[in-house]
Amino acid sequence: MPVRITKFQEMKQMGERIPCITAYDYPTAKLADAAGIPLILVGDSLGNVVLGFGSTVHVTMDDMVRHTQAVVRGTREALIVADMPFMSYQASPEDAVRNAGILIQEAGAHAVKLEGGEFITEAVGRITNAGIPVLGHLGLTPQSVNQLGGYRVQGRTLPQAQKLLDDAVELEAAGVFGIVLESVPGPLAEVVTKRLRVPTIGIGAGAGCDGQIQVLHDLLGLSDRVPKHAKQYANLNQVIEEAIAAYMGDVRDGDFPTDEHTAQIDDAVLREFMGDVAADR
Ligand code: KIV
Repeated sequence: MPVRITKFQEMKQMGERIPCITAYDYPTAKLADAAGIPLILVGDSLGNVVLGFGSTVHVTMDDMVRHTQAVVRGTREALIVADMPFMSYQASPEDAVRNAGILIQEAGAHAVKLEGGEFITEAVGRITNAGIPVLGHLGLTPQSVNQLGGYRVQGRTLPQAQKLLDDAVELEAAGVFGIVLESVPGPLAEVVTKRLRVPTIGIGAGAGCDGQIQVLHDLLGLSDRVPKHAKQYANLNQVIEEAIAAYMGDVRDGDFPTDEHTAQIDDAVLREFMGDVAADR
């Protein structure tokens, strides 16, 4: 049965932890969905891990629509949240509603995610009033990397911690169905989690959050480096490199392809054809 946003509220109430993951394409979405993950985020982290940019600010609406469509085609049950990319919602609430609508109507997502606190609450209200569920994102908000002065833990000072809590409360009042807390000290994430009715989904924010989200490529060992907050569950970089090297070796040694991998022709047709070729000489 397809997962609905109400499921996450229920899981929080039942004390059931919520595992979430990113995916950016058809095959990985299919695998994540088959594993039973309840929420797939088509994160704008695709700018880093799939498109090879140094940050997410280069990701466009067209990128998000294309990748979300692929994830939708690979998914049957999970709730699909599409990230709203940099500058698709910051300039005005009107932009925000229009672009959120595109991610739902054209790309097929079930919900959208926006980064930021108090300054986006009007946009969040307008989007949710349009019937589109919103996931918030506080703490380290990668679209603001230039403003934050790098990828740093957020909420370590008293004013920062207070602001983060205030932002979380305001986002909840604006109608989000959950909030991602990225790179926030564990005890602060726990306070925010206890204060909210909606679930918190942590990344580098400790076990006190209601759920966890990780970038798929970090878990699978497909990233250039494993961030401190991630645990690597497989080493696909090595598996893939070894597979490509083995293929190259087989081609060079003449061990691939064999008859098994080669298109065949009926013997009688072949004999006739060879006869014709010989006669033409
Ligand atoms: O873009 C992304 O993948 C994210 C997660 C890290 C939460 O925002």
